[in-house]
Amino acid sequence: MKILVTGGLGFIGSHTVVELQNEGFEVIIIDNLSNSSIEVVKGIESITGKEPIFEQMDLRDKQKVRDFFSAYDDIAGVIHFAASKAVGESVEKPLLYYENNLGTLIYLLQELVKKGRANFIFSSSCTVYGQADELPITEDAPVKPAESPYGNTKQVGEEIISDTCKVNPQLAAIALRYFNPIGAHSTAKIGELPIGVPQNLVPFITQTGIGLREQLSVFGDDYPTPDGTCIRDYIHVVDLAKAHVVALQRLLEEKHEENFEVFNLGTGQGSSVLEVIQSFERVAGKKLKNKVVARRPGDVIQAYADTKKANEVLGWKALSTLDDAMASAWKWEQKIRK
Ligand code: UD1
Repeated sequence: MKILVTGGLGFIGSHTVVELQNEGFEVIIIDNLSNSSIEVVKGIESITGKEPIFEQMDLRDKQKVRDFFSAYDDIAGVIHFAASKAVGESVEKPLLYYENNLGTLIYLLQELVKKGRANFIFSSSCTVYGQADELPITEDAPVKPAESPYGNTKQVGEEIISDTCKVNPQLAAIALRYFNPIGAHSTAKIGELPIGVPQNLVPFITQTGIGLREQLSVFGDDYPTPDGTCIRDYIHVVDLAKAHVVALQRLLEEKHEENFEVFNLGTGQGSSVLEVIQSFERVAGKKLKNKVVARRPGDVIQAYADTKKANEVLGWKALSTLDDAMASAWKWEQKIRK
């Protein structure tokens, strides 16, 4: 069964391609290589023993998207990762973000609704909840005004899909709201490849650990949390990847009543910035140089998932601990810097 994975050479996309191929799906990757490397195809092949089909394409080219679906008329499902994801850059370049993240979504959906029956999975984010009023965060928590164009693309993206599903009963879609994905494949053949200075905590930690960065800046220790630093729900990327496979299988089963559903994907466990540093120090067996600096504007204080819906409806649960995920991230960092 053929599955299209857009952005399939990216961090979460590549791990999902591995899990799909392990489950016997035939994967076609579309990626424009804007924030990924062609080398990832080899990593995927080396892990799974199977080379995915790869099409280098920019989904902003509407005609190419049309041509693709004419050439492949037997795609059973689409998992749409391709998007820009840097919050700060999105503030600087809003039109780029709206075009990349929403234009491409619209073009894909336009082709899918022509097909009759179609299955679609969208990469969303816990960013839609902003600072939630209640923790852990359930899927019923209200969506808060977005802090950035990036965050807005996830909110509006979900609305575009929901509105499209309402008038196209043949289209079935799931939006997966990721908490904080970290880690790498246990083989260290694929992992996160941030371009430039990492904005996210774990790649900054591993790059500091390896000596690429002088020290980690801890953004604020005066938050109303037990140790004063912000709390997030860090989920191993392989657990996250597996959730995409079960979500896809749910869509393929056609048993559910709703044709648009959302699920939180997290561990349910909150960890503070200091706890994440301690996890690194445990698994790497060394101290991490760090210094507390001012708060980062726009950071929420605490966010961790209520995972009941994904546990019960998808039959999926994150299995890895923070230390497992951190150990895999550290193994990957050491391998790529050799
Ligand atoms: C960030 C984005 C979020 C996006 C997600 C995608 C912001 C404000 N939020 O989430 O919209 O969906 O990435 O991956 O950019 N930290 C440090 N020092 C650092 C880096 C981070 O102390 O050098 C802290 C942050 O203050 C935060 C935690 O580590 O408390 C996690 O930060 P990060 O990895 O950037 O993730 P989010 O802020 O949760």
